[in-house]
Amino acid sequence: MPNAKRTLVTAALPYANGPIHIGHLAGVYVPADMYVRFKRLRGEEVLFICGSDEHGVPITISADKEKVSPKVIVDRYHELNKQTFENLGISFDYYGRTSSDEHRIMAQEFFLRLLENGFIETKEEPQLYDAEAKMFLPDRYVEGTCPVCGNLEARGDQCDNCGTYLNQTELINPRSKITGNKPVVRPTKHWYFKLSAFQGDLEKFIESHAGKWRDTVIQQARSWLKAGLHDRPITRDLDWGVPVPIEGSEGKVLYVWFDAPVGYVTATKELLPNDWKKWWTDDENLEWVCFLGKDNIVFHTIMFPAMEMGVNKSEVRSLKSEVNFKLKLPTQVPANEFMNLEGRKLSKSRGWTIEPHEILERYDSDLIRYSIACNLPESKDSDFSWKDFQAHTNNELADIFGNFANRVLTFVKNNFDGKVPNGKADSEFLSGLGDHAKLVAERYEKFQIREATNETMEFARMANKYFNDAAPWKLIKSDREAAASILLTCLETLRAMSIYFRPIIPIATAKIDAMLGVRTALSWDEAHKAMLQAGSELGEISILFSKLEDEQIAGELQSLQKMSEQFEKAASPVVVNASPAESVQITIDDFKRIKLKTATVLEAERVPKSKKLLKLQIEIGQEKRQIVAGIAEKYAPEDLVGKTIVVVANLAPAKLMGIESQGMLLAVNDDKGPVALVTPMSDSASGLEVR
Ligand code: 2FM
Ligand code: ZN
Repeated sequence: MPNAKRTLVTAALPYANGPIHIGHLAGVYVPADMYVRFKRLRGEEVLFICGSDEHGVPITISADKEKVSPKVIVDRYHELNKQTFENLGISFDYYGRTSSDEHRIMAQEFFLRLLENGFIETKEEPQLYDAEAKMFLPDRYVEGTCPVCGNLEARGDQCDNCGTYLNQTELINPRSKITGNKPVVRPTKHWYFKLSAFQGDLEKFIESHAGKWRDTVIQQARSWLKAGLHDRPITRDLDWGVPVPIEGSEGKVLYVWFDAPVGYVTATKELLPNDWKKWWTDDENLEWVCFLGKDNIVFHTIMFPAMEMGVNKSEVRSLKSEVNFKLKLPTQVPANEFMNLEGRKLSKSRGWTIEPHEILERYDSDLIRYSIACNLPESKDSDFSWKDFQAHTNNELADIFGNFANRVLTFVKNNFDGKVPNGKADSEFLSGLGDHAKLVAERYEKFQIREATNETMEFARMANKYFNDAAPWKLIKSDREAAASILLTCLETLRAMSIYFRPIIPIATAKIDAMLGVRTALSWDEAHKAMLQAGSELGEISILFSKLEDEQIAGELQSLQKMSEQFEKAASPVVVNASPAESVQITIDDFKRIKLKTATVLEAERVPKSKKLLKLQIEIGQEKRQIVAGIAEKYAPEDLVGKTIVVVANLAPAKLMGIESQGMLLAVNDDKGPVALVTPMSDSASGLEVR
C-alpha cells in the first residue's frame, strides 16, 4: 500500500575519521534506535538509515598526518564504526558510505538540478594560497589569530575559543597547516549556492513547525534566518570528495556539507534500488525524522531543506534525472544537546572520552544503552559518570528488573516444574500495564525518550510490587490454585515487559523470550494481553544482569584519569631533566608558532616610577607598535633609537605598570637581568622574519 503511513528515520552520518564516542551515542544513535524499535513494535513501517560521512577536511588532515590516502582512513573507521553500531544493537536498515559511486552520482545530480534551476553560480573570491604546497587552502588547512578574541589557534572557518564563524582571509597571521608558511591571498573561482533565495520559503517552513519541534531547534533556525541568509561556497580545492560535475572545475570537489545529507538519499537507493522514491517523495503519509546533535541543526533545518527546495523548483524534469519527483523535507528534528563525561566536556584530543568499541569488551551493550538512555541530553547537556553507570546497572537493571525476572522464573521452576502454571491471569493488573504502555508510547511519540526510559522502569516496579503484595511463597502453602494464577500473571507481565523494554535493552529482552519459551512476537499495543499456554515448558534460567563491583568502577575512573594525563603530557613539551626552562623540548611546529620579527626602534622613554622599564615605539615592517621592556638598567633611551631589534610579534598584549605592551623584545639575560639586546649582525630592514 503505497499510501500507508510510514516513517523515515535518519541518524546523522558520523565522520569516518575516528571511532565514535559515547557523546555520539547519547546525542544521536541510542535515542534514534529506541525510537525506531518502538515504532517497529507498534507495527509501523519504518526505514532507519545511516552511514559514514567520508569526505571533508578533517579526514584529509588525518590522512596527511598518517601519510596515507584518505581512503585508508575511511575504510578503517567505516568498518570499525559499523561494527560498533552492530555490537550496540543499533538496528539500521542500511549503513552506507559517502565514498560510494552511487553517492557520487546522486550528489552530482543534486548539484546539476540546482545549477539548472539557477541556484548555483560562480564567483571569484580571494582565498589563501600556499605557494610551497602549490594549493589553495580549504578552511581547516589554515590557522591563525582570531580577529575577535585573539586566540592564536583559530581555524579558517571558525574560532573554537569564542565561537565566531570566520572567513579565512580574516585571520591575523594566518599559517598553512601543510607547510607552516604564511599563505598569500589569491583570487580563485568557486561555485556558490544561492541560499539567500530561500529566505522566505525557509521562514515559512520553520514557522510551520514552531510548537511542534523542540524549542532549541526552532530558536537556532530562527536566529540564522534573522541574521539573513548569505550565499555559500559549496566547492573546495581538494582532490578528496565528490568532483564538481562540470567543465572548468578541475581540482575542486563539493563541500562536505553539500554532499553529506544527500547521503541519506543515496543510502536509501542503495538499499532499495526499485523502491527508494517512496521514502523521499513529498507525501503527507511520510514522515522524515532526523536525529542529530545540536551542532548539526543548521544543516538539517536550513541548508539541506534549501537544497531540496531548490531541486523541487524544477519545472521540466529530465527523464534521465534520478530525482524526478518532489523531495520530502524534514518533518521532525529531535536534536540533542551534548553529553559530558564526569563533569567535563568530552574531548578526544585531551583523552577525556569513552569509546564504545573499547568498553564493549567489558560491558554488555544493554548496560551501556540503558545508562545512556537514562541520561539523554534532550533539554540540556547531561553527564555520564562511571558511578552513575554502576548505579543504573546495579540498582535498576539488576535489583528491580533482573530481580523480578529471576524470582518469578525460579519460583515457577521450583514449584510448577518449570512449566507455565494453569491459572487465571489477573486481567486488571495486566490492563494496568497496558494503560501505562500508552503513557510510555506518548513519550516516544513526543521524542521524550529519556522520560520514556524512566517510565519503562516503572513496569518493573509495578511488577515487583505485585509479586511482593501477593506473596505467592506464602499462598502456595494454603491455596496452590491462587498461587498459580499469581505466577501466571507474573509470567505474562515478564513477557509484556520484554516488549516494553525491547527498545532500550534488546539483548536482555530476547533472553527473556527464550526463558519464557515465547516465539511469537507481539506488538506494543497487544503486549498486555494474556497469551501464555498453560503447561508449556520454560527455557533455561540465566542471570540477566550481573552487578558491577566498586573496584571495577574505580578502575575505569583511574584509567580515564591516566589516559587524560598521558594526552596532556603528550600535548605539552617533553621533560628531559635539568632545570625546568631548559628541560622543555618543543617541536618545530611549536617553534613556528612563535613569530619573531626584526623591528626598528622609533622612540624610547623611561616609564615613570620604574627603575627597570622602558617604553618603546617600534616599527615592524609597515606596522607601528608600542612595547614595554625591562632593560632600563642596561640601556639609556637614547642608546636605542634607530636600532634594529628582534621582537616576539604574536605575543598577546599585556599591561606593565598600566602601560600596554604589544610584543616583547629579545635580550640575552644573566642572573641579574639583561646584558645585551639581540640584534642582527648586519643591517637589516624591519618586519623580517627571524627563524
Ligand atoms: O557532524 C558530523 O559528524 C557530520 N558528519 C554529520 C553529517 S550528517 C549528514 F547530513 F550527513
Ligand atoms: Zn575567537
